[in-house]
Amino acid sequence: MPHSLPRAAAPLQHRTVLLRQAVDWLLADPQGVYVDGTFGRGGHTRELLGRLGPGARVVALDRDPQAIEAGQELVRGDSRLQLVHAPFSQWGEVLDRLGIGRVQGLLLDLGVSSPQLDDPRRGFSFRADAQLDMRMDTTRGITAAQFLSEADIHEITRVLRDYGDERAAFAIAKAIVAGRERGQPVTRTAELATLVAQAVRSREPGQDPATRTFQALRIHVNAELAELEAALAQVMQRLAAGGRLVVISFHSLEDRIVKQFMQGHARAPALTPQQRRLPLAPEPFIAGLRVLARVRADEAEQRDNPRSRSAVMRVAERLAPPGQREVA
Ligand SMILES: C[S@@+](CC[C@H](N)C(=O)[O-])C[C@H]1O[C@@H](n2cnc3c(N)ncnc32)[C@H](O)[C@@H]1O
Repeated sequence: MPHSLPRAAAPLQHRTVLLRQAVDWLLADPQGVYVDGTFGRGGHTRELLGRLGPGARVVALDRDPQAIEAGQELVRGDSRLQLVHAPFSQWGEVLDRLGIGRVQGLLLDLGVSSPQLDDPRRGFSFRADAQLDMRMDTTRGITAAQFLSEADIHEITRVLRDYGDERAAFAIAKAIVAGRERGQPVTRTAELATLVAQAVRSREPGQDPATRTFQALRIHVNAELAELEAALAQVMQRLAAGGRLVVISFHSLEDRIVKQFMQGHARAPALTPQQRRLPLAPEPFIAGLRVLARVRADEAEQRDNPRSRSAVMRVAERLAPPGQREVA
């Protein structure tokens, strides 16, 4: 029974995806201020600090208290780094609190870290039995088990379909609700994995039938897409001209949001003659983005780190206001 066997204790480390490439693209000014919205175990932050000058600053955020705890040693060793427990949807407020206006770069390396997946107590994985939690921020919000015990059948179906593209969404939701009505709510990862395996008829080769359900619940419990949209919505106010936005996504729902955001701002309509005469043109017309790159992990990295196979990194640069040579 693969679902009932907790895995042997794994070293709770994270192998950073696109480590050097992300920092290559991010680094616009070696004395600048940078935000790493997804500190994790600090792989990208460490690489960035290694390449920045003494006058630079890095503000790193993570909503997971364990990530913040794990980063304390790095903070003690480098006064250029500030590590803040906050969701990246609040990166603008964090900068306000620190008295920072615009920054030279924002990096988002989305999704979960390996320590989150590998620690059975976090309840993210169907590979080990644990309480069905799945919250990245364990200090707030409702767990996946709570969601499944409270939501109605239509809401559960919607989440599984919209965030997991699960064809058997209704059948799974029905089994969850039926269990609840029998006084057997799903509270553990192994119970959910078994229930899904029974409800899903057609299996995809090489994929555990629970993969889509677990992904969908994780996205929902952590409001991952709303977080991403809220973070991107602050980019045009916060990124200095010449500054870079680098986002690494691991599934198509995230990547679509990033792509549409970048392309939308790259295609900002030209100023009308009337707007050109205004001393301050409305924000979307002041300056847009230039899309610079879409990068996948190379073969060697994909071989070495399977997590990198689904990674898509997109890079855009903030353009200077029309008619101005940019100095950040
Ligand atoms: C893929 S890992 C980042 C790994 C990191 N780049 C490294 O090299 O160690 C994603 C991290 O982002 C955090 N995270 C995900 N969504 C977040 C959000 N909305 N706000 C803040 N942190 C978030 C997770 O808790 C996790 O630690």
